[in-house]
Amino acid sequence: MTDFEFENILKNDIRKVDNSLLSYLPDAKDGQYQVAEAMKYSLINGGKRIRPVLALEFARACGGTRNDCLPLACALEYVHTYSLIHDDLPCMDNDDLRRGKPSCHKQFDEATALLAGDALLTHAFEIISEAELSDDKKVIAVSLLAQNSGVSGMIGGQVIDLLFEQGSPNLKELLTVYKLKTGALISAACLLGCISAGADSSQMAAASKFAYSLGIAFQIQDDILDITGDEKKLGKPVGSDATNSKKTYATIAGLTKAQQDVKKLTDNAISQLDAFEDTEFIKLLALKLVNRDR
Ligand code: IPE
Ligand code: IPE
Ligand code: MG
Ligand code: MG
Ligand code: MG
Repeated sequence: MTDFEFENILKNDIRKVDNSLLSYLPDAKDGQYQVAEAMKYSLINGGKRIRPVLALEFARACGGTRNDCLPLACALEYVHTYSLIHDDLPCMDNDDLRRGKPSCHKQFDEATALLAGDALLTHAFEIISEAELSDDKKVIAVSLLAQNSGVSGMIGGQVIDLLFEQGSPNLKELLTVYKLKTGALISAACLLGCISAGADSSQMAAASKFAYSLGIAFQIQDDILDITGDEKKLGKPVGSDATNSKKTYATIAGLTKAQQDVKKLTDNAISQLDAFEDTEFIKLLALKLVNRDR
């Protein structure tokens, strides 16, 4: 696959997701406009859409269609966006910039940001329940997304992430947090793609292994960019981890080892792709994330 072909697929997938994301927004009545505005504000523009793109591409790699997967991909982006709004709140990372704009609580206020996050999360499940997929697939999708976003997934990781601000985690402990706070939603993305396409259990297992390796690599790269990144490109503050006394993989292992491990984890992820058809795009996407600057 040439770079041009890769960029074309990526652009088309992102366009598909962007066009649908807003169409799923709930109707707002008097008094609800502000929270609906805040949901829309945080959803549109600026996001890389890595998770929904992975969902669409895993659907295709399992012999399904991107269109069947689209509601699940959008639901996942709703959950991811909620996680970012809450992650930026003063009681968590206290960051004022997100996706190149003032964070939700800065643009609106804390209560609106909290409620917009809650609304995005709950609405994600409504989107799945109304998708044109079999009831069996929808039940599995709801259960998977709930598990991976909840206490045994993303939330569980965020909780320990905050606890570690007071402690001195080692690399192994950090990796457990990364698996949860970031790996769980990336895993949900790949698995939702598989579910929409009716993948078998061996493909589900391979997708999950791929996603956890990629997700941990993604978080380590995020830590690296918190040190070496450019705020304009990133669209979020650089140095936030240091300000919060957060020990990250990059600060504990050092930048060189962190960069080497991002590559190793990505190669591990790619080695799981043999279970699928035509994975050239997914492979290239994973490799491009190693050197991402946003
Ligand atoms: C940011 O995720 C949060 C992490 C898990 C590191 P992304 O880097 O995918 O953020 P967006 O969606 O592109 O804004
Ligand atoms: C966030 O990790 C993971 C989430 C579940 C949102 P970070 O706190 O490092 O993400 P950024 O750097 O704010 O995007
Ligand atoms: Mg955080
Ligand atoms: Mg943060
Ligand atoms: Mg970060």
